[in-house]
Amino acid sequence: MRGTSARRAAATEAPRHATEPPEVGCVVGLEDVHVRLGERDVLRGITAELHERRIGIVGANGSGKSTLARLLDGLVLPTRGTVRVDGLDTRRSGAQVRRRVGFVFSDPDAQIVMPTVAEDVAYSLRRSEHDRAARDRLVADWLARHGLDRHADHPAHLLSGGQKQLLALTSVLVSGPRLVVADEPTTLLDLRNTRRVAALLAEIPQQVVLVSHDLDLMAGYDRVLVVDEGQVVADDEPAPAIAYYRRLLDERP
Ligand SMILES: Nc1ncnc2c1ncn2[C@@H]1O[C@H](COP(=O)(O)OP(=O)(O)OP(=O)(O)O)[C@@H](O)[C@H]1O
Ligand SMILES: [Mg+2]
Repeated sequence: MRGTSARRAAATEAPRHATEPPEVGCVVGLEDVHVRLGERDVLRGITAELHERRIGIVGANGSGKSTLARLLDGLVLPTRGTVRVDGLDTRRSGAQVRRRVGFVFSDPDAQIVMPTVAEDVAYSLRRSEHDRAARDRLVADWLARHGLDRHADHPAHLLSGGQKQLLALTSVLVSGPRLVVADEPTTLLDLRNTRRVAALLAEIPQQVVLVSHDLDLMAGYDRVLVVDEGQVVADDEPAPAIAYYRRLLDERP
C-alpha cells in the first residue's frame, strides 16, 4: 500500500482532536515473522514485543529495516507468522491498525495527497474537526510549530525535499496516532531541520519506532534493534546495540 492510501485509511474514524493529548503507545507483537518478496526471503523469523516509548532500528542497506517497519502498520503482511498491534492482527484488521499507527515514509511524495501545504495538513483533520474556522486555526498552529507557516499556501509538491519531510511528519502527527513509525525521516534534511525533526521525535508523546542510518538520533532511546540479513541480530539499549552494529560492519569485507 502506498502512503497516500495509508493516510486515507488512517482517517476513516474520527482521530483525536489535535489539541487534546493523544492516547499513546501500543504493544506490537511479532511472532516468527517471515516475509518473502519475489524470490527473496527478506525477513527470516523475527520475534519481538515492542512496547517501549522510543525504539530505533538500524542495519546495513538491504538488511530488511523498511520491510520490518512496514510490517508494523500492515503496509507489508507477513508471509508466515503474525504481527499484532494491541492484539489486532495486521492481516485481518489493517484499517484499525492504521488508525493507531502513523507511518512517515522516507519519500515524502508518497504521502502528500493535497495540492497545498495547508490543505495537506487539513486533510488529516477532515474527520475530527468539521468546523472550518477551527480546522484552519489548528492547521496554522501545527504549521507554525513545525516551521512551515510561511509555506501554508504553497504547492506541496514544490517544497524542498526537507520541507516535504517536515510536512509529511506534520500531517501524520495531526491525525493523532498512538505510534509513529518513521523510515529515515531525516535523509533529505539539512542540519537545522535534522535537529528539528530529532527534537520533535524526542518530544512528542507518541511512541516512536525510528529507522535511520543517523545513529546519533537514537542516543536517548529506550531500545535499538540491529537488523542483518533479515534477522534481528542485536536488541539492546542504544550504546551496546550500536557498538554491536559497528563491529558487525567492521567485520564485513
Ligand atoms: N518488492 C520487493 N520485491 C523483491 N525484493 C524486495 C522488494 N522490496 C524489498 N526487497 C528486497 O528486500 C531486501 C530488504 O529491503 P528493505 O527495503 O527492507 O531494506 P532496508 O534495510 O530498508 O535498506 P535501506 O537501508 O537501503 O533502506 C532488499 O534486498 C530488497 O532488494
Ligand atoms: Mg529502507
